[in-house]
Amino acid sequence: MKIVVLAGGISTEREISIVSGTQVCKALRSRGHQAILVDVYFGREDADPMQAFTDEYDVDAAAAYARSFDGQVEKSIQEGKAFFGTNVIALCQAADVVFLALHGENGENGKVQAAFDLLGIRYTGSGYLGSAIAMDKGLSKQLFWQNEVPTPAGFILRKGEDISLEAHGMTLPCVVKPCCGGSSVGVTIPKTQEEYEAAVADAFSYEDVIVVEEYIKGREFSVGVVDGIAYPIIEIAPIEGFYDYTNKYKAGSTVETCPAVLTKEQTEQMQAYAVKGFKALQLDNYGRLDFMMSEDGKMYCLEANTLPGMTPTSLLPQEAQALGMDFADLCEKLIAVSAK
Ligand code: DAL
Ligand code: MG
Repeated sequence: MKIVVLAGGISTEREISIVSGTQVCKALRSRGHQAILVDVYFGREDADPMQAFTDEYDVDAAAAYARSFDGQVEKSIQEGKAFFGTNVIALCQAADVVFLALHGENGENGKVQAAFDLLGIRYTGSGYLGSAIAMDKGLSKQLFWQNEVPTPAGFILRKGEDISLEAHGMTLPCVVKPCCGGSSVGVTIPKTQEEYEAAVADAFSYEDVIVVEEYIKGREFSVGVVDGIAYPIIEIAPIEGFYDYTNKYKAGSTVETCPAVLTKEQTEQMQAYAVKGFKALQLDNYGRLDFMMSEDGKMYCLEANTLPGMTPTSLLPQEAQALGMDFADLCEKLIAVSAK
C-alpha cells in the first residue's frame, strides 16, 4: 500500500510523535509497504521548510516520491510554505491511507480528522468527534460520569476563576493537568497549598483551561481497545514518582507488566470499563484508556488516548506483543481496523 505516516506537528508531544512516526514508517516498510514519513508543521512560521518532508532513510528519495504525486508538491517545498496545505494534502490524497502518528494538539484533537473527512482522505484511528471529545479531559470526565465509567472526582478551571479546592469539596494532594495535553506534560501532584498554586500556574502556562482531579493512590494501568476488543491490561509502575514524561519515555525508568497481575474478575472489569469508556467518548477503531486502581481496589478511568504512542517504550505495542503480535503486525492491524 501507499501510506503517508503523518508525524511531528506543533504540540507539546511533537518529539514523541516523531519517534512514533519513525517507528511506524520503518515497520510498514519492512512489510513491503511504500511508506513515507511526513513531518507536518501546520503552518508554524519558524518551521524549516526542508523538514516538511523529512525521511530519516533518504531525504532525496522522499522528495522524489513527493514529486511523483504532484508537481505542486515540489514547488511548495521549495517555497517553504503551505505546511499541511497543498503539499501535504496532495501526498495524502494520493496515498491509500494516512497513518496518523501525530499526538496532541491538531493531530489528535479532531482537526486533521475533520479536514480529511471533507477531502475524502482515509486515515487511521477515531473520527473527528471522538478525537475532539477524548482530547478534552474535562468533557471526557463528564461523559464517563454519565455513562457509569468510574473516574476521579474533579473540576475544570478557567483562567481567573477561584482555584479553591474546598469550594469543590476536594483536598490535597490532588492532580493538576492541562485540559487537552498529553504525555503528562504540565501534570503535577501538589501536596501543599503552595505547591497547588504553583501547579495551577504551571498548567495554565500550557492552556487556558485546566483540570483539577482527586489523587488516587494505588496502581496504574492501561488498556488498549482495538476494533471493540480490549487488549491485555498493562501495569505501569514507575521506579520513582508518578508516570510523568520522563518515566514514560526513559527506558528502564518504569516496570511494565503485561498482562497485569490482577484477578480474573478485576481484569474483566477493567477491560469492560475500557470498552464502555471507549464507546462513551464516541471513539472508533482503536485507542488506549488509562486507569488507576486505589489501594482498596476501586478502579478509575483517567482518560482515553485516541492516537496512543508507538515509541519503543509505549504501551499499546507491548499489549499487542502479549497477544503474539509484533510491532509491524500491530501497525498493519491498526490500518486494517480503520479501513472498515
Ligand atoms: N499521549 C501519548 C502519546 C500516549 O498516550 O501514548
Ligand atoms: Mg493522554
